[in-house]
Amino acid sequence: MREIGAIIFDLDGVITDTAEYHYLAWKQLAEELGVHFDRAFNERLKGVSRMDSLHMILDHGGIVLSEEEMNELAHKKNEHYKTFIQQITPDDLLPGILPFLNEIRAAEIPTALASASKNARPVIRQLKIESFLDTIVDAATVKNGKPDPEIFLKAADQLAVTPDKCVGVEDAEAGVDSIKAAGMYAVGVGSKKAMAKADWIIEHPSQLTLKALRGHYG
Ligand code: BG6
Ligand code: MG
Repeated sequence: MREIGAIIFDLDGVITDTAEYHYLAWKQLAEELGVHFDRAFNERLKGVSRMDSLHMILDHGGIVLSEEEMNELAHKKNEHYKTFIQQITPDDLLPGILPFLNEIRAAEIPTALASASKNARPVIRQLKIESFLDTIVDAATVKNGKPDPEIFLKAADQLAVTPDKCVGVEDAEAGVDSIKAAGMYAVGVGSKKAMAKADWIIEHPSQLTLKALRGHYG
């Protein structure tokens, strides 16, 4: 059986349901701009940086703005998002995540967080799971966002584990592309359609157990 060298987690939508808060915050902004916004369009924004997401929404609505106006809108979306995440507590860990993190710790498998969010650190603190993560790579520390492999490669490098021994867990199409481009094994949390390129697709994080992962990883 192949040994798992490390497990690298996305945050929003995998560990906690902040993907829903990003969706609600973008939807409010898009509606204020008069741009049609639904869940299908939102799938394309998952895993994508704040500024790139804004560009995609503006393109979608055929709106052209100055850099200053775009910075203001990105700030506004983030303020809205921050009001949602203020309330986060350990109860907001998605079902199955804490038992999985405990299993990983017991098996002494190194772990990392690879999140495109500049809000990742406060969210992790509020969830009280810092001790389960050996290293954190967030948007502030990489040049190229997902789907570029940089963020997952940096996490592997910080853990001193080669990419071919790493498992990445994602809920975003851009995230799965990033994991695969890094040469890692991808677990996709979500629909078969959105997660089509993942090596193992699960509908919900509660399906994450080491036994099931090892069974698929081989
Ligand atoms: C990703 C989310 O984790 O972080 C995206 O999937 C979000 O939806 C991105 O746009 C950036 O987040 P933030 O908190 O830096 O605006
Ligand atoms: Mg995500």
